[in-house]
Amino acid sequence: MVNAITIKGSKDSSDSLSCSLLGWYAVCTSKNLKNDGIYFFSLFNEPLALYRDKQNKTICIKDFCPHRGASFRGGEVKNNEIICPYHGARFASDQTCSKLANVNCQHIVDLRYDNYAKNTYLLQYPCEEIEDYIYVYYTGKPKAAVEEFRIKESLGTLLPESHGLRFSDYVYEEALLDFKCDWDRIVENHLDILHIFWMHGKSLPGNAIGRHSITSFDQKTETKANSIRTTYLHRNASNDEFISQIFIPPGRIIMYKGSLESARYVQILDHLPMGRNRARVIVRHYRKFFMSSSLSSLVLFKQLQLRTFYNIFLEDYLVLQTQTFSQQMGYMRDENIRLLGEDRPLKLFWDWHKSALRKCNPWDIHPISSNINSIHKDLLMVYPPENQRLVRKNNRIIYFRVILRIGIVFIFSLALYLLLT
Ligand code: FES
Ligand SMILES: [Fe+2]
Repeated sequence: MVNAITIKGSKDSSDSLSCSLLGWYAVCTSKNLKNDGIYFFSLFNEPLALYRDKQNKTICIKDFCPHRGASFRGGEVKNNEIICPYHGARFASDQTCSKLANVNCQHIVDLRYDNYAKNTYLLQYPCEEIEDYIYVYYTGKPKAAVEEFRIKESLGTLLPESHGLRFSDYVYEEALLDFKCDWDRIVENHLDILHIFWMHGKSLPGNAIGRHSITSFDQKTETKANSIRTTYLHRNASNDEFISQIFIPPGRIIMYKGSLESARYVQILDHLPMGRNRARVIVRHYRKFFMSSSLSSLVLFKQLQLRTFYNIFLEDYLVLQTQTFSQQMGYMRDENIRLLGEDRPLKLFWDWHKSALRKCNPWDIHPISSNINSIHKDLLMVYPPENQRLVRKNNRIIYFRVILRIGIVFIFSLALYLLLT
């Protein structure tokens, strides 16, 4: 039975959490950005794209060609230049439009347009690639050169290393997932420990967590300028830890048990506010066990892990969508919501979120009214649970590989039998 409880060891407000909704976001992982590929996403409705330059450095551009406003969707990266699909304008990643001489469509731009080339450039955001994550510094106002940004928020506080995680001790599996709901609802969902028991018990391995074991927790909460750390303690005689979580605004949550230096298992969740009713989550599970890549591939660890990710997120999906509706209808006002003691981290999140919106509302920078073409919104949703095709593909891989393994064992046994008889 869950009761409202007093919070132990917590400061009573999130005032000291000073970050805004603008700043560094983990927008995808290195695997998502293939060489010569373009990765499309958006933040707060603004369409953006990533590609790699000559030095293999990631470049984040506004997805807008300055010739006549086409998206780079359908374009390509060749010899580390990004090429617009409409008239073939080529852009080098040294912040100058270098080679309009090479534009394919010669009846628009040819060798006589050198001056035009020098003054035509893409708009950018600062971008870093660390430990297979690609981070973008988002302000809502892209600039011609990354050097023009005055970066106030340090990327360091977002990095799990700065909270004690040693990546070299772990291997990981990861997935991206898209949702038609507001991103803050998903952040709240991932801070919410109680629903794991009620909603996800069947999908989690083992039977320790489920409706039968739902219980009350005390919490220790520590709020700093850039993060909130909460430890959930079983409210029983031993008061032992159930789980700890660190929320690092604007969009990262780290979950683990014990200390981040020694945890066997660490989950990192990143949340992208792509648009109203559009959010992407990057989930990565680090583990210190079962680290052999050949062994884990033999037992289909990755595919089975993906299946668990997809199931868990599908279980949440309807709730997230209906909550988004309730929020947009104005039903989620404080006076209509009755929080439990266990909901304290959620309250801290919403307090921060509200105060961050008051200081600067990124949704006002690129607003989308209902009569604006929805092409970017529609193209963005590519990962499950929105896209069931990928779920089915993953299931097919599992069935095929299981049959293949059984077949190999059967043939091997038969050959052995024939040899020995
Ligand atoms: S719109 Fe991009 S080259 Fe014309
Ligand atoms: Fe959930």
